[in-house]
Amino acid sequence: MNLTAEQIQGNWDTFTSNIETHITGDRKQALLDFYNKYQERIMLMPAAHKKEYHNSFPGGYVEHVNRVVRCALKQAKLWEEEGCDMSTFTTEELVFAAINHDLGKMGDENHESYIPQDDKWRREKLGEDYKFNTKVPFASVPDRGLFMLQSHGVRYSFNEMLAIQTHDGLYDDANKKYLFAYMPEQKPRTSLPFILHQADLMAARIEFEREWLPKLKGNLEGQKNNFTLNDKPKSASKQQKALGSIKSEGLKNLLDNL
Ligand SMILES: [Fe+2]
Repeated sequence: MNLTAEQIQGNWDTFTSNIETHITGDRKQALLDFYNKYQERIMLMPAAHKKEYHNSFPGGYVEHVNRVVRCALKQAKLWEEEGCDMSTFTTEELVFAAINHDLGKMGDENHESYIPQDDKWRREKLGEDYKFNTKVPFASVPDRGLFMLQSHGVRYSFNEMLAIQTHDGLYDDANKKYLFAYMPEQKPRTSLPFILHQADLMAARIEFEREWLPKLKGNLEGQKNNFTLNDKPKSASKQQKALGSIKSEGLKNLLDNL
């Protein structure tokens, strides 16, 4: 799937308006400053490096995060209707955790985690439009995201730390220490991590379905349109206008192929 330049720009506007709407206090500006600093990297990031995962296309990261924010707010309503104790977290904590849950995918201050795959065989045979950037030392996505926030002066609450850390639920063994506890006093004291995990799971599943169900149904023409980065956008001039400030050579090359 490809997003047009207008869609990428529109998704970025939604992303920043979620911060404007839901985040309060001094950290609101700190968070906006952080995302403005890395705008061109983050607005064009994929959500994953392989087509087999989800939203592995330019702009896929922000599109995914916006969906997780929407799903998290809807999931919270469902949990509330079913009797969840909503006094254990705030809507701001829910949205903050949703906005930043996958931030660690951006890489570090100087290097992007995902860079365009330059191996033609791997692109064509393995569906890797991106590859991991070996300049970035390993850290888990939650650890890196939390590090990036604290290193840029963005404070987060205990609830937000817990939710971001465990957003993959039990898909990540590292979360067992939080989610596999048998003693009541060792279990999370809020349902926020579970709500965020459900929202993330829902978003990623829907993004997977959108890309892969047509292919699995044998709609190969649709698949071709969805999975190549070679289709030209309808309006190259609008693309230039919306994304004219991009400085990254790798991303410019990638977008030239859109
Ligand atoms: Fe996610």
